[in-house]
Amino acid sequence: RWAAATGPRRVLLASPRSFCAGVERAIEIVERALDRFGAPVYVRKQIVHNIHVVRDLERRGAVFVDDLAEVPEGSITVFSAHGVAPAVREEAARRGLRVVDATCPLVAKVHAEARRFAARGDLVVLIGHAGHEEVEGVLGEVPGAGVLVEDEAGVAGLRPGRGVAYLTQTTLAADEAGRVSAAIRRRFPDAEGPRGDDICYATTNRQHAVRAVAAEADLVLVVGSANSSNALRLTEVAARFGHDGAPLARLVDGPGDVALDWLRGARTVGLTAGASTPGAMVDAVVAALGGLGPLEVEELRVTEENVEFTLPKEVRP
Ligand code: F3S
Repeated sequence: RWAAATGPRRVLLASPRSFCAGVERAIEIVERALDRFGAPVYVRKQIVHNIHVVRDLERRGAVFVDDLAEVPEGSITVFSAHGVAPAVREEAARRGLRVVDATCPLVAKVHAEARRFAARGDLVVLIGHAGHEEVEGVLGEVPGAGVLVEDEAGVAGLRPGRGVAYLTQTTLAADEAGRVSAAIRRRFPDAEGPRGDDICYATTNRQHAVRAVAAEADLVLVVGSANSSNALRLTEVAARFGHDGAPLARLVDGPGDVALDWLRGARTVGLTAGASTPGAMVDAVVAALGGLGPLEVEELRVTEENVEFTLPKEVRP
């Protein structure tokens, strides 16, 4: 408990936070597929990188698999929001799976750019993080013509021997991606890339909001799962943009992960959530903080969002 004499603790909610349009669409696709076709509905990989979302859909009859080989022939199969390589689509077709594609349209756009650059003979340099499903999907579009770079050192190691074009993962930290793309343009002045980057509106907005909150907070809690790229980036951005040096920034999956000693001396706690984190998890963290002493909850809104995507035809009403 913190001393009542110092007044209530302030919780500063970053806004926007939590679900983006691509995640809402992906979850709705699984729900509608369950309604329309009945359980089980197979989902390749986690539909979005959040353990609460996955468990909830599992309870309703979704079966998550890592590999299409685990899906019985002819079954309804949803591709996750992160997108898939063409080889995965081909395998699904070979096995007679009935696919509903929940790839976020903003990820699909990066796939299309990669194909266009590769078709004209360029080396496609993707700025991103190794091992992420989105990266595997985009590079899978351009076999033999794509390469991943994670940082400026990766740019120094490039030996293209042809024209260079670059793209970025949708969930990077804008400042870091900007440094890497600047390094590409310095080394390859003719390199073509997106205007700015391919970081999506939701990633950008959540990063702006957490920066504003971090500037006023002693501690920033980011609610999200450890495999969520955009939630990890929010934690890093919060740590970089705190006042008087970095505030403590921690990624938590839910209220149970909040350690009491982080809260010692933290008068203002910033709170945000990754684009794949349900709003209810943020509410749960606020409730847990409220259980420790009086709170004053404020929201710091940096922008409004009104993006919506249409559903794929297989599940459209
Ligand atoms: Fe799409 Fe961006 Fe969300 S790429 S899934 S809108 S984080």
